[in-house]
Amino acid sequence: MTKRFLPYSRQNIDSNDIKKIVKVLRSDFITQGPNIIDFEKNFAKYVGAKYAVACATGTAALHLSCIALGINKKSRILTSAITFVASANCAEFLGANIDFVDIDKNTYCISVNELEKKLKKKKIDLVIPVHLCGHSTDMAEIYKLKKKYNFHIIEDSCHALGGTYNNFKVGSCKYSDISTFSFHPVKPITTAEGGMITTNNKKIYQKLLLYRTHGIHKDPKVFKNKNLAFDKNNQPNRWYYEMDVLGFNYRITDLQAALGNSQLKKIDLFTKKRNKIANIYNKNFKNLKNLKTPYKSKKVKHTYHLYTVLINFKKINITKNNFMKLLLEKSIGSQVLYIPVFLQPYYKKKYNYKSKNFPQSMKYYEQALSIPVFYGLSKSEQAMVIGRIKKLVT
Ligand SMILES: Cc1ncc(COP(=O)(O)O)c(C=O)c1O
Repeated sequence: MTKRFLPYSRQNIDSNDIKKIVKVLRSDFITQGPNIIDFEKNFAKYVGAKYAVACATGTAALHLSCIALGINKKSRILTSAITFVASANCAEFLGANIDFVDIDKNTYCISVNELEKKLKKKKIDLVIPVHLCGHSTDMAEIYKLKKKYNFHIIEDSCHALGGTYNNFKVGSCKYSDISTFSFHPVKPITTAEGGMITTNNKKIYQKLLLYRTHGIHKDPKVFKNKNLAFDKNNQPNRWYYEMDVLGFNYRITDLQAALGNSQLKKIDLFTKKRNKIANIYNKNFKNLKNLKTPYKSKKVKHTYHLYTVLINFKKINITKNNFMKLLLEKSIGSQVLYIPVFLQPYYKKKYNYKSKNFPQSMKYYEQALSIPVFYGLSKSEQAMVIGRIKKLVT
């Protein structure tokens, strides 16, 4: 039998998920239907937030969140140097100024000390911490800084659905204004493409709804064109809507929401399995001197969306590129998540931030490698991954 390829992560879709999607396909509403409302309700309940707004992607979730917080050309924003480009792009979409903060050497999330150094220098409007690999940022510490320096917080929780911090679910917004999620196939649950935003603030919630759908609303109380909006009896015209601000079509479909609802039921199962896999890796890699396993704070329930190890490639005398190739020869996928965002040509050209100011991020970039962790990874497949990696690093 040929060995199957083991990616660093992948979705798990079962026959029940498929049944739910087919049911929507046979129904009257495939775009704006009842599954979206259900998905939002179930999601808000699961994470313990008042409101949830489903949208097209995790990137759309970040963009909408920045709009809802009033980010504009004059705003200054900080995010982690190690993240997917979308965590920074959301500020660029609005012409805001983005700067990066070096990561913590243990959690790989934004360093609280480095963040405060930047906050002391300039007025910052928004901080976007990223719960990298599924390990929550130290949010209570960031919240203390919010009180001291007065800025908004959007948690980029794309990796951390199913995780907790101080026993609060990631997404509860206990220490933030907004939390955003992605349902891309490698994420903790999937809707193919998709995103979600949670908040406890009603005004933010209303803005998110408005900007998700073109800036269009149907609320007669705030209609501006009275002569168009109402009939002679002062009743609102049935067809009438108004566009008051410039919004987007950032909606998710009912098909995707049906899948999301079905996947959400399995989030704890998925998280448990990934934790199990991570524990086996941790145990087997414990005494390797050229490989560092992921750190986990006691305050955190890790989702292990990614299982990322740091390998001293110089010491083992194999380049990272060759190491990945040697894994691939055994059908083992691996990935580098992520390239420091400030190194991307777009950001380099615009801001020219210097690598020397981000020593931990550069060290992480040199050594980090994410290896397979997903619900369907079997024991024997994992044993094969462990054997191959041990052989290469010792
Ligand atoms: C940390 C982080 N932020 C944002 C995103 C953007 O999500 P999406 O791909 O759903 O737009 C991703 C996923 O790719 C991500 O990993």
